[in-house]
Amino acid sequence: MPSTAPARTRSSDLVRAARCEPVSRTPVWFMRQAGRSLPEYRALREGTSMLEACTRPELVTEITLQPVRRHGVDAAIFFSDIVVPVAAVGLEIEIVAGVGPVVARPIRSRADLERVPELTSGHVPYVTEAVRLLVAELGDTPLIGFAGAPFTLASYLVEGGPSKNHVRTKALMHGDPALWHALCDRLAQVSGAFLRVQAQAGARVVQLFDSWVGALSRADYTRFVQPHSAQALAAVAGLDVPRIHFGVGTGELLADMAAAGAEVVGVDYRVSLTDARERIGPGHAVQGNLDPALLFAPWEVLRAAVVEVVEEGRRAPGHIFNLGHGVLPDVDPDVLTRITDLVHEVSTR
Ligand code: CP3
Repeated sequence: MPSTAPARTRSSDLVRAARCEPVSRTPVWFMRQAGRSLPEYRALREGTSMLEACTRPELVTEITLQPVRRHGVDAAIFFSDIVVPVAAVGLEIEIVAGVGPVVARPIRSRADLERVPELTSGHVPYVTEAVRLLVAELGDTPLIGFAGAPFTLASYLVEGGPSKNHVRTKALMHGDPALWHALCDRLAQVSGAFLRVQAQAGARVVQLFDSWVGALSRADYTRFVQPHSAQALAAVAGLDVPRIHFGVGTGELLADMAAAGAEVVGVDYRVSLTDARERIGPGHAVQGNLDPALLFAPWEVLRAAVVEVVEEGRRAPGHIFNLGHGVLPDVDPDVLTRITDLVHEVSTR
């Protein structure tokens, strides 16, 4: 079935900012706006594991809508996880609370690679269904689909879980480049197909998360990662969905991440939007980049920081307001509502 998204989501401020077109006010959403700080989320999730929750379209729809209703943000982010597609193709994986994704048998050899087959839409019917339900409920508000980028996924799969130094991942990358490229080629297919399923069901924008890629040098990034991220992003080229590409600690990589093919570059809080623009060059919108820790500062301090990000963003060809990484677990959700209102108020054209 072709996309059923109302045409008006195409003229939403989020989509317009992503395309560097004029907006009525700066659009805002928050990475990790769903889940985390919301009591209504914790109540709904009671007794259901994270990955199980992701396979229930009604539950996914409700959780995705919660922050949109509560904060009045300009976009919904699909409630799922970067490991959902690798679990869907059969990898034994669990999301452990307070830890993150844990893989029962890590991927470290060519034989292991066979346990990660290509993804088709038939692996994730619940994603297609949830996106369709959401698009029908969301009206004017666009839905952002997402996937994990090959490097960040590979890190979880090779390490077997979250990692600080990514030592096994880097050892594989440098020690057996052929296997590394084969693994990332497969993961690019999985990520790209996962983005495509969401876009074809009606997601209006997609984001590729390469959360941990800031662990790499620029040379390693361009040689071992960029071609695979470009492949994942290329899977949705021509579907009329702007693409956002984000990672943490990527100050040195911003230009190369932009060159991987996204319209929007997500900037973390370590680099100002002004410096980021200089590194990225013309022709891209930027997303970000309020330090998530500042949500715990007194309102007047936070207010000034928000206004500064908005002002810097207004000098960019396109700006989507966001945090420089995800919402931290203990945040008072009312602060997110206040920031949303403030961004809208100070940026109204
Ligand atoms: O609100 C949203 O952003 C939508 C849904 C979303 C989740 N994960 C839900 C989730 C998104 C976009 C993600 C992406 C994701 N998952 C990333 C990239 C974004 C980033 O933060 O850099 C990464 C690295 C993961 C892997 C992952 N999954 C981690 C590190 C964790 C946290 C573990 C913990 O408990 O600290 C998860 C679990 C997870 N994914 C939760 C949620 C709401 C929390 C678990 C729960 O509520 O039971």
